[in-house]
Amino acid sequence: DWTAEHIVDELVADVQAQVGQGRVLLGISGGVDSSTLALLLAKAVGDQLTAVFIDHGLLRLGEREQVEAALRPLGVNLITVDAREEFLGALSGVDDPEQKRKIIGREFIRAFERETAKLGDFDFLAQGTLYPDVIESAGGEGAANIKSHHNVGGLPEDLKFKLVEPFRTLFKDEVREIARLLGLPEHIRMRHPFPGPGLAIRCLGAVSEEKLDILRRVDDIFISGLREFGLYDGCSQALAVLTPIRSVGVMGDERTYSYTAALRAVSTDDFMTAEWARLPYEFLATMSNRIVNQVHEINRVVYDITGKPPATIEWE
Ligand code: XMP
Repeated sequence: DWTAEHIVDELVADVQAQVGQGRVLLGISGGVDSSTLALLLAKAVGDQLTAVFIDHGLLRLGEREQVEAALRPLGVNLITVDAREEFLGALSGVDDPEQKRKIIGREFIRAFERETAKLGDFDFLAQGTLYPDVIESAGGEGAANIKSHHNVGGLPEDLKFKLVEPFRTLFKDEVREIARLLGLPEHIRMRHPFPGPGLAIRCLGAVSEEKLDILRRVDDIFISGLREFGLYDGCSQALAVLTPIRSVGVMGDERTYSYTAALRAVSTDDFMTAEWARLPYEFLATMSNRIVNQVHEINRVVYDITGKPPATIEWE
């Protein structure tokens, strides 16, 4: 595609002109925007870029390894930070959703600052800001802020860096096209959005390592199943929720008293409103069987059939 190639060349030249010999710092979320930006910056300024990925312990199964495997071979100087203990410690016993978000936002900044302090001075901070983000923040507080959204890029205002934001004029589809040209693997390029607070807001109430581990296995069965059945790209977002509800069931001759998992998949254009995805019954039956067979802590699976509004996409 001539146009996208042309855009890549132009963005590379712009970044080189702006950055010169300076050092650039980038926070990686594992999503398409920051991953694509990492590839673009590596192409433009090579090792002048340092990309930092914080593992907050709220990631999905294998996610950290996938990000490392996608970016390092393509020349990204990537540092992964294991901050799982700090995050889980700070979240311990906290059950209010907004409080959980605030703590995670704060811990992100702490972990990021702690790590970058070791790395010497940087001149630039890169951010994967897209055109719609520019418009939205120009519009001020709106319905989009019903939940306080902490993206990984939500760093303090007083950082002493100059910003590098090569995607400010681009839409998501254009970033995906650039990602394809730069060789970002399909599973990251076409990935559904995943919230900054990660599994913490899908593990209802207070999170713990045990609960996150259960949720991670349920989520993996559901998301892998969607891919296997060719349904993933047809949904805008899909997720699993671990509810605090325990109910009675039967397994062999034994009575069980275990957790309920909820599955949710939606279609939407803008994530402001959404319809629940009409996934085939046979697929849902397969998912339910796999989950209760493979995740022994779960004895009941429900599918969320609520639109947004009145529900939100996430459960917290
Ligand atoms: P809701 O649940 O508000 O979600 O319908 C709309 C979209 O926003 C994502 N979301 C978040 N993303 N930090 C994020 O980075 C957050 O705290 C957060 N809360 C919701 C959600 O996954 C969906 O795509």
